[in-house]
Amino acid sequence: MLSWRNQEINRQASKNSHVISVEEHLRWWSAVRADPTRRVLTYRHDDLPCGVVTFFDLRFDQHRTGSWGFYLDAEGLAARGATLPAWLAVMRAAVDYAFDVLELDRLDGEVLADNTVVRQMNRRFRFVEGTGRQEVHNGRQITVIPISLHRSDRRVLDFSGKSTCRSHHVSSTPYIIQRLAITDHRRTREHPA
Ligand SMILES: CC(C)(COP(=O)(O)OP(=O)(O)OC[C@H]1O[C@@H](n2cnc3c(N)ncnc32)[C@H](O)[C@@H]1OP(=O)(O)O)[C@@H](O)C(=O)NCCC(=O)NCCS
Repeated sequence: MLSWRNQEINRQASKNSHVISVEEHLRWWSAVRADPTRRVLTYRHDDLPCGVVTFFDLRFDQHRTGSWGFYLDAEGLAARGATLPAWLAVMRAAVDYAFDVLELDRLDGEVLADNTVVRQMNRRFRFVEGTGRQEVHNGRQITVIPISLHRSDRRVLDFSGKSTCRSHHVSSTPYIIQRLAITDHRRTREHPA
């Protein structure tokens, strides 16, 4: 997990772009696993762990809301020629988890303005962008764009990328495999190395 987060492409796509040390990682993990407002999940593709989805600021009161972010083992996936299918599938699995497991009413997130490919993919999943704001992280000036998806606007795609009816989609085998491929480490008490 740490080596993926530290890959150049993922650091550039994140607000916090410095290389994270092992000590920092262990401190972060012990805080995250004790925090009920967060979930850290690994994503498996073709039975190989290859990505991380984090949910944070989870609120389970009257309006169930939460935020999310993700990153992939970009280098490993590129070497296997599996980047695009894994990217599509991790986004789909994360959105499914947010609405079907966490039962959120609204899923929020953020994306850097220059991350045009992720912004395009977000639109495909019907995330709506808010107004960007300037921030400075580690001396780097970035524009952060908030995104959100309401449960009622959620679009479910089949494997060819076509929209499909939600209830039919749940019964298709590949979808179920993808859904089960996401692991909550806080629940398993396993350290996501
Ligand atoms: C939403 C997004 C822009 C947020 O960036 P970010 O806040 O730096 O993202 P992270 O969730 O990784 O980090 C949150 C915090 O946890 C820390 N953190 C994350 N993983 C950590 C780890 N393994 N060990 C220690 N700290 C960690 C970060 O340093 C950051 O700390 P800060 O709050 O002090 O800044 C980014 O996560 C994202 O999802 N971008 C869109 C999707 C994308 O482009 N993904 C990559 C390409 S596939």
